[in-house]
Amino acid sequence: MKLPDFPWDTLAPYGDRARQHPAGIIDLSQGTPVDPTPEFIQRSLQESSNSPSYPVTAGTAQLREALRKYSSEILGARGDFDVLPTIGSKELVAWLPTFLESKTVLIPEIAYPSYKVGALIANATVKEVGIDATTWPTADLAWINTPSNPTGRVHSESELRSVISWARNGNRVLASDECYVPFPDSDTPFSILSLTDGDNTNIIAVHSLSKRSNFAGYRGAFIVGDSAIIKKLLEIRKHAGMMVPLPVQNAMTTALGDESHVHRQAELYRQRRKVMRAALDKVGFVTEFSGAGLYLWCTRHESDWESVSWLADRGILATPGSFYGSAGEKYIRVALTATDEKIREAAERITRGN
Ligand SMILES: Cc1ncc(COP(=O)(O)O)c(C=O)c1O
Repeated sequence: MKLPDFPWDTLAPYGDRARQHPAGIIDLSQGTPVDPTPEFIQRSLQESSNSPSYPVTAGTAQLREALRKYSSEILGARGDFDVLPTIGSKELVAWLPTFLESKTVLIPEIAYPSYKVGALIANATVKEVGIDATTWPTADLAWINTPSNPTGRVHSESELRSVISWARNGNRVLASDECYVPFPDSDTPFSILSLTDGDNTNIIAVHSLSKRSNFAGYRGAFIVGDSAIIKKLLEIRKHAGMMVPLPVQNAMTTALGDESHVHRQAELYRQRRKVMRAALDKVGFVTEFSGAGLYLWCTRHESDWESVSWLADRGILATPGSFYGSAGEKYIRVALTATDEKIREAAERITRGN
């Protein structure tokens, strides 16, 4: 198996340059949450620290109930569906093609790199596709990601309906990665499950608490959708492990029961997006998509590395768009995962010119 070179190594020299800025680096290259895990969630983890027995792979009764409730009340799932907690969603993305024995996997042409990595681990053929599913070839598995990492693009209702039709047309699986759905901005993202009219055949939605609840260090995520697919994945996991630790299951249950902390977090990202976008606009960057989620996707119609270099001279580290596919090579991705103070300072450095 030949995996791609780890792209972040090529960004390291720009990080070194940004670190030389007299006021230090502002790292906007990684979508890793920096705001605290809400205290009520931390407490829930602490209260479960006595955990001598193996956790249940399918999730505790309380967690399963919380996942079902979240799926129907927040995501709009109807009809027959099942749920399954996973250790993070990166792990699920990386192993799903192997577990499903997929031979051909469709991924978005500009995408989170792990979709391709997962397909390569499974030794599957990878095909990059556009948004319009009416043009997609047949395959065993297809990934969509709304809102997208890196572009912040939100799939429209008609785009999602085309994807659903593709999924229903044969023995295939459509996996909709929706980990940024909790963060609307000028666009309001929604789950594919709200459009299936209760027939979830061949469809699973992938959700994560990493960003929703600043939970990335806990590694808690889940899938919801077609019961037969989830049953198959559960059977494999019963043999293969990857059980979510019990304290994390309990913290997930607590976190899923509250939406107010999610709304507060979404507001923080909205404000940070506004501040950064205005600054980047002033110096000639054009922002495309970026209507929800965690990122700004911008271009100055120059090579992505030129833009990364320009920002590194101001002590700011962004990600070159080519990390996400060759169609991204004139773009940069700016993550909104820095404190308000750092975002304000980054905006000042950009508009001030140093
Ligand atoms: C689109 C997308 N999917 C999945 C993940 C993985 O998140 P986690 O493994 O923390 O659930 C990320 C992380 O950045 C992501 O951007």
